[in-house]
Amino acid sequence: MKYITEAQIKEIVTMPMALDIFRQAYLENVQGLIYTGDRIVMPIIDVENSAQWLTAISKTKPYFGSKFSSVFPANLNKGLPSVISTISLYSNQTGELEALLEANYLTAIKTGGSAGVATDVMARKDARTLGIIGSGLQAFTQVLAIQEVRELEAVYVYDIKEEYINAFIERIRTVQNRPYQIIAAESADACVAASDIICTCTTSHTPVFSAQALREGAHVNAIGSFTPYMQEIEEDVVVKASRIITEHVDGLWAAAGDVIIPVEKGLISKEKVVGSVGDVLAGNVIARENDKETTLYESVGSCVLDVAIAIASYEAITNE
Ligand SMILES: NC(=O)c1ccc[n+]([C@@H]2O[C@H](COP(=O)([O-])OP(=O)(O)OC[C@H]3O[C@@H](n4cnc5c(N)ncnc54)[C@H](O)[C@@H]3O)[C@@H](O)[C@H]2O)c1
Repeated sequence: MKYITEAQIKEIVTMPMALDIFRQAYLENVQGLIYTGDRIVMPIIDVENSAQWLTAISKTKPYFGSKFSSVFPANLNKGLPSVISTISLYSNQTGELEALLEANYLTAIKTGGSAGVATDVMARKDARTLGIIGSGLQAFTQVLAIQEVRELEAVYVYDIKEEYINAFIERIRTVQNRPYQIIAAESADACVAASDIICTCTTSHTPVFSAQALREGAHVNAIGSFTPYMQEIEEDVVVKASRIITEHVDGLWAAAGDVIIPVEKGLISKEKVVGSVGDVLAGNVIARENDKETTLYESVGSCVLDVAIAIASYEAITNE
């Protein structure tokens, strides 16, 4: 069994490479060539913490895999990541564990990259401004990915903890791929009102911006909500959206409070979720019909993408 560290992965995996792997994995998923098993989410009683197990199997590569993530929001106060993940890859010939990968960075690349592919197919072609709410690891890779799919002119950043914003802006400066402005927004709504593309990447259980702040034609990537009782975006955003696309439709109905709760309240019909990013790439579903509509990518994570990027990393490192 090979143990692969975060440092080894950072040497090998770039966002452009990851975007290609995710586009391919999305298409293979639609073709049934890589698919997930059931997800287990285990709330840890009486505290905000939770744990989740995700699984996927590839038919084009000789592996199946699982990802385990602990979500411990208060870890940030202890100088630890709030989400800690590992991915195990098993041989689909013998069932033996072949590799164990440290996967905090890979998860962030996956979350950013999946939203990058979604943004590419869903946002207006002329989108030039990006608003980021939350300034943690997931927020960072949203910027890394979205700068690859649109020619950004400005990035607006808001975090409820003001003290995090400047450090985040400095971090973005070290990776930006063109000289766009990076601006601290005064509020979440100001961040949204200035932006063609909005990413919510927080641990909040309640909505982080007002639907009224959205520009005409905006695209929203809702990243943070991962349980049926979390709502990171307002119900009015979900109502306003012309259509909702996700990475994995069954995963959405198991985990996305942002969408499940408005459906349960009768505010939207289930049909508003039109399919996955893979369905759009395969030409089965239209992502945007005009420049005026609001579009929503509801991300709940998909182990298909985790396992696809883990396999690519493992193969790249073992072939070095
Ligand atoms: N969709 C996916 O595939 C996926 C993958 C990994 C993580 N996640 C989820 O994304 C979320 C963010 O993850 P992270 O690793 O970046 O977490 P993090 O704790 O590093 O960062 C979260 C940031 O959000 C900020 N925040 C919290 N409430 C806010 C509010 N109301 N308004 C503005 N900012 C607020 C915090 O101050 C913090 O800076 C988590 O809920 C995590 O479970 C989703």
